This record gives sequence, C-alpha cells and structure tokens, in this order.
Amino acid sequence: MMAPLVRRLFLVALALLPAFSAAAEPRYTAVFSFGDSLADTGNEFALTGGATGNTPPYGDTFFGVPTGRASDGRLVLDFVVEALGLPHPRPYFAGETMADFQQGVNFAYGRSTALGPEFFESKGFTLFMPVSLENQTEWFRNVLQLAGSVEEQRKLMATSLVMMGEMGIHDYLIFITGKLTEAEIRTFVPHIVGAIRSVITEVIDAGAKTVVVRGMIPLGCQPLMLALFEGTGADYNRATGCLTRLNDLARKHNHALMGMILELRRAYRGTGVSILYADQMDPVIKLVFEPSKYGFGDKPLAACCGGSGTYNFDPTFATLCGMPGANKCADPSKYVSWDGIHLTDAANRHVAGNVLRSIVLRQTPYMAHLSSS
Ligand SMILES: *[C@@H]1O[C@H](CO)[C@@H](O)[C@H](O)[C@H]1NC(C)=O
Repeated sequence: MMAPLVRRLFLVALALLPAFSAAAEPRYTAVFSFGDSLADTGNEFALTGGATGNTPPYGDTFFGVPTGRASDGRLVLDFVVEALGLPHPRPYFAGETMADFQQGVNFAYGRSTALGPEFFESKGFTLFMPVSLENQTEWFRNVLQLAGSVEEQRKLMATSLVMMGEMGIHDYLIFITGKLTEAEIRTFVPHIVGAIRSVITEVIDAGAKTVVVRGMIPLGCQPLMLALFEGTGADYNRATGCLTRLNDLARKHNHALMGMILELRRAYRGTGVSILYADQMDPVIKLVFEPSKYGFGDKPLAACCGGSGTYNFDPTFATLCGMPGANKCADPSKYVSWDGIHLTDAANRHVAGNVLRSIVLRQTPYMAHLSSS
C-alpha cells in the first residue's frame, strides 16, 4: 500500500526546493537503520519473540498482524523508506546472508539503550536485558564482513542512507523511573550523545555518505510520563498539558545532538559526507497542541491502547496494551500515542513528513539557526 500523505508531503518538499533536480538527489540503494523500539521493525520479535508488539492489537491498523513494531501500524522508518521508493531494510535478526542484507539492514532493537551496561551499573542500575548501541555497532561490523572486501564494503555504504535513532529514550526512562534528579540526568546527556556520535563516525569511516540523525521526541507528552508524574505537583505546560521539565530535557538532548552534528560536519568537511538532523520534537508538539488541525481527536495526551485513568496508561505497568484486560480506542487514527510510549501509525506518518523534509531539503530550520549563531 502507498503512503499517499507522505508522498504528497514529499512532493511538497520537492516543490519547495527550486534548484532540486532528480539528478541532484543521491539515489540510495539501501537503508542502514539504528535505534530502539521507535525503529525496531522486528529484531526483538525475531530474537526473543517477546517484544512489545508481539500480540494484538499491535499491527491492527496496518499489516493486520503483530510484526514486532511497537505501533498499531507503520513506524516513521516505514513511511520514510516508502516515500523514498526504497526497499524496507531487513531486521538484522531476520536475515543471515549478504543476499538478505543487500537492500539494507535494520539494527534497531526494542528497549535498546545508547549507553552500554557498564555505565548503568556504575550508577547502580542493572539492565535486565542489556542491548545497547555497542551491540548494534557489533552487528553492523558483522554485516560489513559479509559484504566482502573493504572496497565492496565502502561501495555498499556509499550508496546507503543511514538512519540513526532516535536513541536515548530508554536511557532517560531508566534514569527517570530510577528517581534520579533532573540535574543529575542532565549530566548524562553528553554521554548519551557521545555514544550516538561513536556509531556515526564508525559508519562514516566505513564509507557512508549520508547520515540522518533523528532527534528525541517530547518525553513530557508521553502518557507514560504523564501518568507516572500525575499528582506529584510536577510542572505542566499550560498550552499543551505536557510535562515542562521532561520536554526541556528532550530539548537539551536535541541541542547537544545538533552541536555534535555541527562538530562532525566540520571534521568531515570536503569529504562529501552529509550529516543531517531530523527534528521529531516539533511535529509531535504540534499534534498535541492543535490536534484537530491535523485531523486528530481531542485526547492527544491519552494512549489509544492501555489501562485506565486520565492518560489511559497504567503507571504500575500491570495492564499495558497487548496484555489481557487492556482496552483499545475505537479509532487509533485520532490518537497521537498508541500505547502510552509509542506513537500511532497516524502520528508516525506525520513525524515522517518532517524527517523526509530533512532528507530531501538537506536542512532544518533549527540547524540553520545554530550555524548562524
Ligand atoms: C549485547 O551486549 C552485551 C554485552 O555488552 C551482551 O551481554 C548481550 O548478550 C548482547 N545482546 C545481544 C542481543 O546480542
């Protein structure tokens, strides 16, 4: 099935760029994707069978069956590759040979952290299922080995579009639910961004020419966070109803991400490498702030599928979407949040429009502002 809205947004994006010509846009042959459950299209599912998204009603809106995607349908990555006319990258754990990966690989893994387990252990946290960007980097090296000689590896990477992230949500979730103070959590931002940076330099050094870095979504608008902080006297943004300090944390993360990207652009100047930032914050804030303008319903801060309460999310995690006793809204396309943590197919489509703009226009307003300041 096509993605008509994304296709239309893509065409609009093209129309916005007068100098655009088909010849100027690199023709990618594959997508290499890194990330967590926001981009996992079946890795955790293939490896453990126990992923978020392994039971109905996950997949109900699109696909018709659970695929391991943490949504009722497609992820941002799905919409982006469809709009660019590229094949869907194969989840790393759903392939074995280079033939499986020739058209791209998705290393994104549900609940993956940016930071490795040592970092969490040093702060007194034990990860019950540690998968981090270190694992994803190792899997990337394995695929490169399959590609053959260094020359062949570089050829493959040069025509690939690398989609990095979003990464870091799970790191922040662990710290936030672990009751660390926000001041303390802020000191980890450079570490998290540093872990993302390591992967970016590794893929570029392996020959990648285009890397799209997807930013953090507004943590303070997630039903999960809203339910966790309900009644604690936390600060809410009056216009959106989102948690101010958590959105500030997400913005701080994105700011550090953009600073890192600018630094890498300087380091790789003159090498033909493009490192692009794709904002995922504003598109979600817009949906939450003015849902009706975008065709969404009047409960943009409640999960479509979940438990109960103001945000339809059970903060004790006893009744989550996909579990017995969970409820599901009548029309997921009217909701921003699918299960309280992940976005609906409809919201992902909207965010994908913004990510596509960054890829096609090769700029974002934020970056322009930062470069000139
Ligand atoms: C990820 O790496 C850690 C070591 O850092 C290891 O214990 C774990 O088994 C790896 N996970 C997977 C799925 O490969």
